[in-house]
Order: sequence, then structure tokens, then C-alpha cells
Amino acid sequence: MLIAIDGPAASGKGTLARRLAAHYRLRHLDTGLTFRAVGAELVASGRPLDDERAAITIAETLDLEHLDRERLNAHGVGEAASKVAVMPGFRKAMVARQRAFAREGAGAVLDGRDIGTVVLPDATAKLFVTADAATRAMRRAAEIRSRGGEASDEAILADLARRDRRDAERATAPLKAAEDAHLLDTTGMDIETAFRAAVDIVERAR
Ligand code: C5P
Repeated sequence: MLIAIDGPAASGKGTLARRLAAHYRLRHLDTGLTFRAVGAELVASGRPLDDERAAITIAETLDLEHLDRERLNAHGVGEAASKVAVMPGFRKAMVARQRAFAREGAGAVLDGRDIGTVVLPDATAKLFVTADAATRAMRRAAEIRSRGGEASDEAILADLARRDRRDAERATAPLKAAEDAHLLDTTGMDIETAFRAAVDIVERAR
């Protein structure tokens, strides 16, 4: 069983992906985290974010099982990730790694921006998770504060809007719902309600 979950930043897709993976006992890959890892590595090595050769080398050797969520979720890393993510040759290398991960074992849950459209077009179930901008900004702010960080609501809103625009407008694998994806708008839903709705969708699709 392969479950593909896509959606904009802070839509709740990551939480749903983790919950679904635990529920169905599937492996889980947060592909956003893999893009973040490459962006962070380029920055750390002093290379520009459009160095495609370096990005491909990092993609090919990235340890998908041990990504440091704590460090990579930091404010700013998402911005770097979305800049690296526009390069087509680099994306190809990432897709190869993501497909290999999905094919190992009994099945997997992958979440990102292009899982239903590009990475796993034949997934058992596809979800496109959204929430309105204010809700997403509120969730991201709560997440940052829970880690002891600080960020103004305006800065978070602007950051999400800029990243969503870059992700939706890029030429290769833009953020977009697959034609056969089920839309799940989590605005006004708590995690439990959203999770039950997601399970309903998967159950109907399998
Ligand atoms: O999901 P997250 O916000 O951690 O992703 C960080 C960035 O990585 C996104 O803004 C997007 O540019 C990129 N990304 C992507 N394709 C994916 C997952 C993430 O381009 N499948």
C-alpha cells in the first residue's frame, strides 16, 4: 500500500502522514525534510543554492533514515529548501531516492508537494491537504513557540506565502493536486478529526 500526501506548508500533511503510517504500520518519508537536508548541507558547505551538481551529489548520498528533524525544521531552512527544489536535474535525483524508499518493504506513506503527481502516480490513495492561510500561520507559530522560538504572525504569514508561491509557480513538479487526489481541507479541524477523515479516504481507496 502506498499513500501519497501533498499540500502547502503547514497544512497539517506531516502530522497526518505520521499518524497514517503508524495506523497502517507503514514506513514514512517526509520528503520536505529531505529537501531541507540538502538545502542545509549546501548552506553549511558555503555553496550557492543553485549549485545543481553539488545538490545532486548530496541527494545521492543522503541518509533518509536519519534526518535531524529538530535542526532541519528551523525557520529559514524551508526557504533554502524551496530554492534548491526548483532545479529539474536535482529533483530527478530526489525522485529516484523517494521511489526506492517507497518500493522497499510492504508499503509506505510519503508526504510532500509532488508525490501524487510525479513520485507515486500509481499510489493506492492520494490526499491533497489544505488549510486557509491564517490557520496554517497559526499552526506554524504554535510549532515555533513550542520549540522555544520566536516569530511574529506577520513574518510567518509572509514566509508561508512566499514559499507557497515559489512551490506553485516553478516549472518542474509544482505544488498541485493530482487529478485523482482527494481534497482534505483541515481548516477548523483538530488533529483527531482530520486523522479520521484521512482514514476514511484511504479506506475508500484501497
Ligand atoms: O514540507 P516542507 O515545508 O518541509 O518542505 C520544504 C520545501 O521543500 C518546500 O517548500 C518545497 O519547496 C520543497 N519540497 C518539494 N517537493 C517535495 C517536498 C518539499 O519541492 N516533495
